[in-house]
Amino acid sequence: METYYFKQLKQMKRILVITYSQSGQLDEIVGNILNGMKGEVQVHHEKLKPIPDYPWPWKGTTFWDAMPECARLIPSEIEPLTINPNDEFDLIILGYPIWFLSPPVPITTFLNSDIGKKLLKDTPVLTVIGARNMWISAQEDIKKMIAEAGGKLKGNIALFDRNNNLISVVTIIYWVTTAKKDKYLGIFPKPGIAQKDIDSADRFGPPIQKAVESGKFEELQNELLRLKAVELSPSIVSIEKKGKRMFWLWSGFILKKGGPGSIERISRLKWFKRYLLFVIFAVSPIATLIFYLTYPFFFFQIRKKMKYYSGVNLK
Ligand SMILES: Cc1cc2nc3c(=O)[nH]c(=O)nc-3n(C[C@H](O)[C@H](O)[C@H](O)COP(=O)(O)O)c2cc1C
Repeated sequence: METYYFKQLKQMKRILVITYSQSGQLDEIVGNILNGMKGEVQVHHEKLKPIPDYPWPWKGTTFWDAMPECARLIPSEIEPLTINPNDEFDLIILGYPIWFLSPPVPITTFLNSDIGKKLLKDTPVLTVIGARNMWISAQEDIKKMIAEAGGKLKGNIALFDRNNNLISVVTIIYWVTTAKKDKYLGIFPKPGIAQKDIDSADRFGPPIQKAVESGKFEELQNELLRLKAVELSPSIVSIEKKGKRMFWLWSGFILKKGGPGSIERISRLKWFKRYLLFVIFAVSPIATLIFYLTYPFFFFQIRKKMKYYSGVNLK
């Protein structure tokens, strides 16, 4: 009996879940995915805790102050994980939101830490994103960091807010600066990912379970794609790519005035805020119109790009 139990334990597949989520939205999504996995798996969940913690809700310039370090992938500090770095897992699920078209600093910190690299080495990874609607650039950063740590990205699930781009900017700013997930002014839609999209994330469980049990991950992303794990809007991707280049320039400009919280950089942060809101509300609608007018000329090129961003390979 004992031997049997030991055998069972030995064979039980192990999943390490790493998440960072301020509102808990991502933890809910990952929880639903795990609930959809019907077989026996042993799950260890680590919620990253930055030092110092980021504010929730965000107040004043602190929100904009997070941009430079996110954009430049500058790690900071996180509380020690409770796990033994020598532990081995059959799958790592990395769940993260997007900050300024980049991975949030706590995720960058984990991926660059010694323990993160040790855990990731030679281990299959599934990323789970809970974003407003612009996540492809951050995922490219994540793909690189996973590859540098020797991890093997095998799947990606990206849930997003399906509301119009400009409306979701208003509602997300309302949400993250008040921590209230209700209808702004009673007329805007609720911020964040629709509850039905969060609830139906359990559909991703079975293919993940199958891959973990068999140790065969090659078909996982295709199976997830069939379940609509990734849905891309070409015009949003186009705006995002331009935004990422601008964030790179702005972050360099701001970093010249010091690190996080530095008073010297406040004036540049305020200019960045004005610039960003102007671009989002005045320039991006025109850029979207131009994008669709020229769409037929770039059809094949765009289709190729969408295929790449839906996948898990790194160019
Ligand atoms: C500082 C900050 C910047 C953000 N930037 C983006 C972004 O560039 N693209 C995007 O799709 N969502 C962005 N969001 C929204 C987040 O991806 C996420 O949906 C929201 O913050 C809830 O995440 P949570 O799970 O941490 O609560 C941003 C949120 C914050 C707080």
